[in-house]
Amino acid sequence: MKIHNYSAGPCILPQEVFKQAADAIMNFNGLDLSLIEISHRSKDFVEVMENARSLVKETMNLGDEYEVLFLQGGGSLEFLMVPYNLMREGGKAAYLDTGTWANKAIKEAALLGDAVIVGSSKDSNYNYIPKGYEIPSDVDYFHCTSNNTIFGTQLKDFPEFNGLKVCDMSSDIFSRRIDFSQFDLIYAGAQKNLGPAGATLVVVKKDILGKNDQNIPTILNYQTHISKDSMFNTPPVFSVYVSMLTLEWLKKNGGIEWIEGINNAKAELLYGEIDRNPLFKGTAAIEDRSYMNACFLLTDDKLQDTFNTMWNEAGISGIKGHRSVGGYRASMYNALPLESVQALVDVMKELETKHA
Ligand SMILES: Cc1ncc(COP(=O)(O)O)c(C=O)c1O
Repeated sequence: MKIHNYSAGPCILPQEVFKQAADAIMNFNGLDLSLIEISHRSKDFVEVMENARSLVKETMNLGDEYEVLFLQGGGSLEFLMVPYNLMREGGKAAYLDTGTWANKAIKEAALLGDAVIVGSSKDSNYNYIPKGYEIPSDVDYFHCTSNNTIFGTQLKDFPEFNGLKVCDMSSDIFSRRIDFSQFDLIYAGAQKNLGPAGATLVVVKKDILGKNDQNIPTILNYQTHISKDSMFNTPPVFSVYVSMLTLEWLKKNGGIEWIEGINNAKAELLYGEIDRNPLFKGTAAIEDRSYMNACFLLTDDKLQDTFNTMWNEAGISGIKGHRSVGGYRASMYNALPLESVQALVDVMKELETKHA
């Protein structure tokens, strides 16, 4: 039976990418060597890195003023690298507090300077996106999280700001059309819409770097990685390779515009059922609902065991909610097919019929 994989990350990737990745593990580029046993400095791998970097720029429609890096340390290390590279000593940065990950970013920035929280939805367990906040003009940068993986909220619009804009796009990168050029720095762990865990994508405007007079440890300095074409140290070769394959898959099928249509259809199907079916209710404010992670609850807890058995039997995996929200979370990343959402919606309807 086919498993409908709703894992929040690491998560589903395109089936054809899995097949290509498996082939490359056994015999990469006809070398009779595995992708993971050759030097990262070999011509064959350098081509992978360059192709992956250039596909990122092409997909995001960004010019040469941006550099693309595949680093390690996850989104979590970027929480620290961003202030190290952009905050003046004892400086100040503005953060939008939209949940657990934003909070972790704030904590790291506060180690180096003043992390000003310009808006927060902590007061209602992060079930909405703060609006109408002001960003002080004297901050070194503004930081936001485009999609809140745990709480199922998403920024539909980004604030206007004349200073530097930084965005953690870990859980919705390449899922919808965005004017990426409004940002000076974007980062995202690979393990949602891009590839296996291990690589972190960083897209940064070159001319914003080297201006904050910080004594930046070598490996935390974006300029170190740029000067070495993202090969300062051994890169996470498998994750970079699979990310390249996923970017090729996206491009071949029509890019972000194509996947956005599918993502909209999936989210509308699931939220439509959550709103229609009296046995379910969504947790996030409707206008801020994430099209990647849909969080919902049963209206009657007594139905939990029955519902859990039903979705398990239907081959659905990974919809248990995060402990900070409870209930269920259906993560509908790029590679999740519409049929998988239909399978979940069918189970929700069946539960209603059973309990009518
Ligand atoms: C929005 C967001 N930012 C950051 C992270 C942290 O990423 P990592 O585990 O790669 O450090 C996550 C992880 O799920 C996330 O969803």
